[in-house]
Amino acid sequence: TQPDLALPVGTTLDRFILSEQSAFPFATGELSQLLRDIALASKIINREINRAGLIDVTGATGTDNVQGESQQKLDVIANIRFIRALKNGGEVCAIISEEEDDIILTGNPNGKYVVAIDPLDGSSNIDVNVSIGTIFSIYRRVSPVGSVPTLADLLQGGRQQVAAGYVLYGSSTILVFTTGQGVNGFTLDQSLGEYILSHTDIKQPRTGSIFSCNEGNVAEYPDKIQTYLNTCRQRRMTGRYIGSLVADFHRNLIKGGIYLYPSTRKSPGGKLRLLYECFPMAFIAEQAGGKATDGRQAILDITPTDLHQRLVLYVGSPDLIDELLTTI
Ligand code: AHG
Ligand code: MN
Ligand code: MN
Ligand code: MN
Repeated sequence: TQPDLALPVGTTLDRFILSEQSAFPFATGELSQLLRDIALASKIINREINRAGLIDVTGATGTDNVQGESQQKLDVIANIRFIRALKNGGEVCAIISEEEDDIILTGNPNGKYVVAIDPLDGSSNIDVNVSIGTIFSIYRRVSPVGSVPTLADLLQGGRQQVAAGYVLYGSSTILVFTTGQGVNGFTLDQSLGEYILSHTDIKQPRTGSIFSCNEGNVAEYPDKIQTYLNTCRQRRMTGRYIGSLVADFHRNLIKGGIYLYPSTRKSPGGKLRLLYECFPMAFIAEQAGGKATDGRQAILDITPTDLHQRLVLYVGSPDLIDELLTTI
């Protein structure tokens, strides 16, 4: 059954989630509760981010994460907040986070779900007041409920996601997610502390005039990608790159465009992480009529082998991705 897509702009997130749930008569409400837990954690992060310059949470911690990136204080704070919310919620048995080496067991072996999360995306933008985000991906576990969760629960592959979304802490804060029934966006009304439906059934324009990549790396990109980018420039397309995947993705989702993170010398296999960056964005893109590929296959068809595996990512308007694929 399709959910009631007629829900008007102005509907609260809670009401929307209930309505989606009612499309599944046997749903227990646990996924709904999990989405609410994530929304609550994101409001707490939103508050911390808004006060960042005032409460000494800018800058680095001096520690590195498992991928050798310097952790920022807000990376660590966001990680703690999300893990706490997911542990307290009780629906999740295991989590993989960008900021943790291994699977985190939540202590809720009866939880039916597992979550992959990038608690804070765009950490190079934290200290300079530029948009940052959070990305999440949810699976129903494959190991028996009550047992100890396993790697296999998190390495199911992108097509098994039951929900995925992101929060963009931008000029306004917006939560965008899908449960496989289209994509909807909810803007945080700060005065109410509520997410309100503002972008119903988001569809990515078939084409667009924006291309987004880190131009500083262009000389290291494969020749064919350089050729493609030259075509973009010759056409006088608009170059836009924020350096926060969430913000770059969201802009292109709404306006139409293509995002590229090809291989570079530093990251020969690509930089972005499959489980908590590429899979959720690919799920959202496809649900909105866009496409996501690594140049060889659809991102969602890739079989994951490692929790922190990295990947090349091309994502955006379907006609632009198709065109890219014919040139590479
Ligand atoms: P994170 O801050 O979660 O580690 O992610 C960083 C990612 C992504 O947000 C962004 O699009 C990309 O790195 C930017 O990379 P470059 O600085 O290499 O362009
Ligand atoms: Mn990082
Ligand atoms: Mn990220
Ligand atoms: Mn991150």
